[in-house]
Amino acid sequence: MKFGVLTGGGDSPGMNAFIRAVVRSTINLKSSTSIWGVIDGWAGLRDSNFRKMTKRETAGIGHSGGTVLGTLRVPELKDNVDMQEGIALNLHDNFFDYLLLIGGNGSLAAAAVLDKIIKEKGYRTKILVTSGSIDNDVCNKYGFSVGFYSAIDKSLEMLEWIRDTASAHRRVYIVKSMGRESGYLPFFAGISSGAEHVILPNEDVNFEQLATLISERDRDTRIIVSEGYHHFVEEIRATLEKIFEKRSIKNEIRTVDMGYFQRGGKAEVKDILLASWLGYSMVKHAFEYGDSGFFTTYNAGQQPTFIPLEKAIDSNETNNMQVSQQLLDFANALM
Ligand code: F6P
Repeated sequence: MKFGVLTGGGDSPGMNAFIRAVVRSTINLKSSTSIWGVIDGWAGLRDSNFRKMTKRETAGIGHSGGTVLGTLRVPELKDNVDMQEGIALNLHDNFFDYLLLIGGNGSLAAAAVLDKIIKEKGYRTKILVTSGSIDNDVCNKYGFSVGFYSAIDKSLEMLEWIRDTASAHRRVYIVKSMGRESGYLPFFAGISSGAEHVILPNEDVNFEQLATLISERDRDTRIIVSEGYHHFVEEIRATLEKIFEKRSIKNEIRTVDMGYFQRGGKAEVKDILLASWLGYSMVKHAFEYGDSGFFTTYNAGQQPTFIPLEKAIDSNETNNMQVSQQLLDFANALM
């Protein structure tokens, strides 16, 4: 048999642990099976750019951030039917029995389209997908995606650095967080770091109330802003400064973007274990000749939940914008 392994979308810590687990499980469980890395993600699949993987080249990568295979974004893949059909044919012509992939919601959507084409045309390849994304916006009702905990960890560290300087200067820091249209990363970064407020993507912000909260604090205030919120951090700053002037609130405001720093660096232990267990489980599934599908996240050692790709892309399986009332109550109780 022949397997391919692909990392797609934005890199997330834990992708290398996934690659390592897939490569090693494949070779250790059935040495007659070859495992090929797809270079640069979807671009590599489009261009048939593959490299045969060995156990040796996955040594020592389990904890490292980014992805050793690379991941280039190919936005045209979403709507370009010729490209989709070309990729499905590439997989077939290169004799891949399974493609094992970890990525975000764009990668899951692409996998579902390719799987449909492959089945219609009678091609050989099956596609197994799991979620790797700092945004936690991929079929997330079963568990958090690979990389999510690591990104919270990085955010926490940065927010503590900001606290030092905010406290020293009695300042307000408006801190932008990645997360695309999903509020999960900023929200959980806020809970972990004890930030004073998190502006969620769809929030109707009460700025007067926010100014009151700031004025009642003695020293540092950190306000996290979700990437999906419809105003820039500088606009938020200007709005608050106007209110401060009117109400004679003296605190200075600064803005800062945690952005790409949240995505990088060493993977957190939970992500390493989760990614490794998912990789191993997917390889076992492939050796049992299972169909294409999505592996939801869960804890290492527990039974995986395996669902069809059509179900995984269903919007009911993903909660993007709304942080539940239960979680909001939790956050408020910690204020
Ligand atoms: O999807 C992961 C993510 O980091 C988002 O949070 C962010 O909006 C996006 O990727 C940035 O993508 P790029 O690396 O293409 O700028």
